[in-house]
Amino acid sequence: MIEFKDVIKEYPNGFRAVDNLNLTVHDGEICVLIGPSGCGKTTALRMVNRLIDVTRGEILIDGQPNDEFEPEILRRQIGYAIQQIGLLPHMTIRDNVAIVPRLLDWDEDRIRQRVDLLLDMVGIDPSIHGDKYPRQLSGGQQQRVGVARALGADPPLMLMDEPFGAVDPITRAILQEEFLQIQQEVSKTIIFVTHDIDEAIYMGDRIALLRAGRLVQYDSPDDLLAKPRDDFVREFVGADRSLKRLHLISVKDSMINNVPRCAQGASLDELAQCMDEHRANNVFIIDENSGKLLGWAERSAVESGAAPEEVINYAPTSIAVAEDATAREALSVLLSHSFDLTPVIDANGILTGGVSIQRLQDLVEAPGIHAAAQRERGQ
Ligand SMILES: Nc1ncnc2c1ncn2[C@@H]1O[C@H](COP(=O)(O)OP(=O)(O)O)[C@@H](O)[C@H]1O
Ligand SMILES: [Mg+2]
Repeated sequence: MIEFKDVIKEYPNGFRAVDNLNLTVHDGEICVLIGPSGCGKTTALRMVNRLIDVTRGEILIDGQPNDEFEPEILRRQIGYAIQQIGLLPHMTIRDNVAIVPRLLDWDEDRIRQRVDLLLDMVGIDPSIHGDKYPRQLSGGQQQRVGVARALGADPPLMLMDEPFGAVDPITRAILQEEFLQIQQEVSKTIIFVTHDIDEAIYMGDRIALLRAGRLVQYDSPDDLLAKPRDDFVREFVGADRSLKRLHLISVKDSMINNVPRCAQGASLDELAQCMDEHRANNVFIIDENSGKLLGWAERSAVESGAAPEEVINYAPTSIAVAEDATAREALSVLLSHSFDLTPVIDANGILTGGVSIQRLQDLVEAPGIHAAAQRERGQ
């Protein structure tokens, strides 16, 4: 548990960046700190691990004032992930993730195991990327490594300062989703800073909205949306954000109709040919008469030469999204399996099309959205 009690941060020039903050973050919860640029989010966060000193008041960690810990000890117990990622360029990916375990003097075997487990967890294959240097990875991959590093020594607490702020909206959505899955397993107590209300609503168990160093409202995402305390909150949660747009677009309007499909009973050659035509790695299987989605087959299975019946996976509902769902739901389903395309079904279960990542990317990068994203960055 993390508690802010009457916390004030006054800089030497007399400016109050944090003004009488009272806030409790419960074990296993993600508390999102949100608010306009300059409202004191980073300052509040960095006071927890004493990168910044408190001027007045105190911050308790499991009931103990944080100034009773040596700063170094404190920082080893608190994972810290930031937007600039902060990977050390001259160290390999594995060595970057190993920083805190090495400081704690773990033996090398244990470190190696832990590092590879963490990289796996964040979706970075250690056997492929472990010995590379940060610049050899994409921005999204580096961000994943940053998260792995923050989890290095299995700290009970995590501080995350706009950790996914530097990547494009779709990659950000992927990272958010993956991080929530990881959090389900590891159940850390997290303070997560963002200025993106969509991210706050998606990630937060509770959201603390700050303005000019003061806490304006601290509530669950639902309550914040349903019961904004004042005009400032109302305006803030209502601001147009790119991913929010995916909530507003229906699957029907974002799907393509021409998807790889074969009737049940097709031969392996037919399945392979259909995938080739669509340059896809999976093909959807439908009932010949009704057109209902029955399941799918993957290229690797088709090429393994197994019997046609054995290469088909029958689980239509878990992989499909309904026509009247939102594009945001389609994205969630897309991220939950490894297809290039999420199949779309109508009310009768008939396969009517598919939604791809590329298509969603194009949608959120449409001109109006782009301008909004630029405004946001300039904030
Ligand atoms: N060393 C400093 N001296 C004076 N003011 C500062 C100092 N560091 C930060 N500030 C001010 O404190 C306010 C809060 O900063 P910060 O916590 O970084 O905001 P946020 O993370 O919400 O964008 C800003 O107005 C910033 O200019
Ligand atoms: Mg900040």
